[in-house]
Amino acid sequence: MMDDFSLTGKTILITGASSGIGRQAALLIAGSGATVIVTGRNPERLQDLFDQLVVTPHLSHVTRHLSFVADLTVEAELDHLVSNLPPINGIVHCAGIVGPLPAKFIAQADIDRMFAINYCVPVNLTGKILRKKKLTGNSSVIFMSTIATKNPYFGGALYSGSKAALEAYSRTLALEMVSKGIRSNCIMAGLVDTPMIENPSEKNMQEEALERYLKRYPLGIGRPEDVANAIVFFLSDASKWITGTSLIMGGE
Ligand SMILES: NC(=O)c1ccc[n+]([C@@H]2O[C@H](COP(=O)([O-])OP(=O)(O)OC[C@H]3O[C@@H](n4cnc5c(N)ncnc54)[C@H](OP(=O)(O)O)[C@@H]3O)[C@@H](O)[C@H]2O)c1
Repeated sequence: MMDDFSLTGKTILITGASSGIGRQAALLIAGSGATVIVTGRNPERLQDLFDQLVVTPHLSHVTRHLSFVADLTVEAELDHLVSNLPPINGIVHCAGIVGPLPAKFIAQADIDRMFAINYCVPVNLTGKILRKKKLTGNSSVIFMSTIATKNPYFGGALYSGSKAALEAYSRTLALEMVSKGIRSNCIMAGLVDTPMIENPSEKNMQEEALERYLKRYPLGIGRPEDVANAIVFFLSDASKWITGTSLIMGGE
């Protein structure tokens, strides 16, 4: 019997695979039978993931998982990745940053930094892959957005703005690519327990804001596995009738 939820025979590119949601997605995608191409900036964490990836025995003679260390905001590194990609059946765009900043303090440099990775990288990467015809028919592109594009939080204007732009891009991509059999969907996740939210003092949410935010989750905060399960669904043929949508996760 055919299992529509299986990813056997597919090759999937995952950005942001060195941490959090991307890492868990890569593990589950490989465990679901796909060959994965993983990328991230941190070489040690990316290697650690790579070492744990399942190699599906009957696929191993054809394709092996691949790993690329790259800062995707650097065009040469982005181009190097795209040039070395085999034909793929899906992209999971997980690379991204967060950074709370009250609206009145937002300056151009902050906009440039946030949009460079959260918006420009997925848009440029997708465009370059499409122009090089590396995405085959019957494929699926997934963008990570946030529930904060609908439900604002203090200091989230810049982050949510970059993700709202991505949602609009994804819907348009879905329209433009539907005739080629390429689907595009977003996941609007609530708060997920990853390194992105673990170190509030350094890069992320202030502790007080985090506590306030946690109260908004009747189902508790998410685990990377929760999001990875949805990602596998969107990559699989089980979702072949779904494009141009955004899935809200978290019960906020
Ligand atoms: N966690 C949440 O609550 C939550 C909720 C909704 C949506 N999201 C979105 O889900 C995605 C994954 O988040 P996460 O929580 O898993 O975050 P995370 O653990 O901080 O991981 C972020 C990933 O992005 C990579 N990255 C950042 N800047 C990069 C750059 N310039 N070039 C290449 N890679 C870069 C990081 O690479 P290195 O670590 O190697 O530097 C890392 O692998 C993000 O887009 C985030 O906005 C997260």
